[in-house]
Amino acid sequence: MSDLIDALDAAVDVLRGHAGDPPDVAVVLGSGLGDYASTLAAATSLPYTEIPGWPASNVVGHAGRLVVGTHASGASVAALAGRVHLYEGHPVSRVVFGVRVLARWGVPRLLLTNAAGGINTAFTEGALMLIDDHINLLGANPLVGPNESSLGARFPDMTHVYDPRLRRLAMAASGACGVPLQHGVYLATLGPSYETPAEIRAFRTLGADAVGMSTVPEAIAARHMGMAVAGISCITNPAAGVLPGPLDHEDVMKTAARVRGQFTVLLDAFIARLPRAGHADATDAGA
Ligand code: HPA
Repeated sequence: MSDLIDALDAAVDVLRGHAGDPPDVAVVLGSGLGDYASTLAAATSLPYTEIPGWPASNVVGHAGRLVVGTHASGASVAALAGRVHLYEGHPVSRVVFGVRVLARWGVPRLLLTNAAGGINTAFTEGALMLIDDHINLLGANPLVGPNESSLGARFPDMTHVYDPRLRRLAMAASGACGVPLQHGVYLATLGPSYETPAEIRAFRTLGADAVGMSTVPEAIAARHMGMAVAGISCITNPAAGVLPGPLDHEDVMKTAARVRGQFTVLLDAFIARLPRAGHADATDAGA
């Protein structure tokens, strides 16, 4: 067996030892959302440093722990408070390690959340955007290198990275809970510098609605391994050049914090609508 499989299995053993069977859904909590993990009942909390191979983040505002617990709806949830980004200098294989562990454990679906800049001028600051599709301008892909065929295909299809059925559930959740949800295309850049106004104009021409520095590697790795994926961006700021002023990370964090309550309501409504393990309709893929 390969080093990667050995490393994934070592991490899965630890998760299984602490939390048992794989949960119904895993949620990667983006900037400002980390607290969501503490809303889960009967939760097991594991610092990333206690999971072999799992990379820990140094970014302020990203705590770095995996919480497995029960949502108010009864769904079991793994919440990832903190993620690592390519711009921190991690190789892309480390950026996606956690998602691969979750898939190997048997978690059927993954919700990726993030903070993003709004390219679509119809989006107001603090809007939430369901990711319909992505554009990968990171200059990296987690599947580069020898393919581990027991994980997935060499050339996996990316026609529906963001599962159509999960997207319908998210829109239904938005309607039911009253938290508006825009939708659009997320474009990933390496960062850590924000974009120039010329780049944002170019990205708009390419068809992007929002821009950020995460999510795409995790989405690709999760699809490779057959997870159903959904993504929601919090539009924390108009992207560079949309308004005259400069961009400031403090403002991004402030907006993320301001929207956290609404984002939490939407997440709760979304998770409550997910199929449960063992139910007849518990598969999302291809729906
Ligand atoms: N650009 C890139 N990443 C971001 C932004 C942005 O404007 N806002 C939040 N994350």
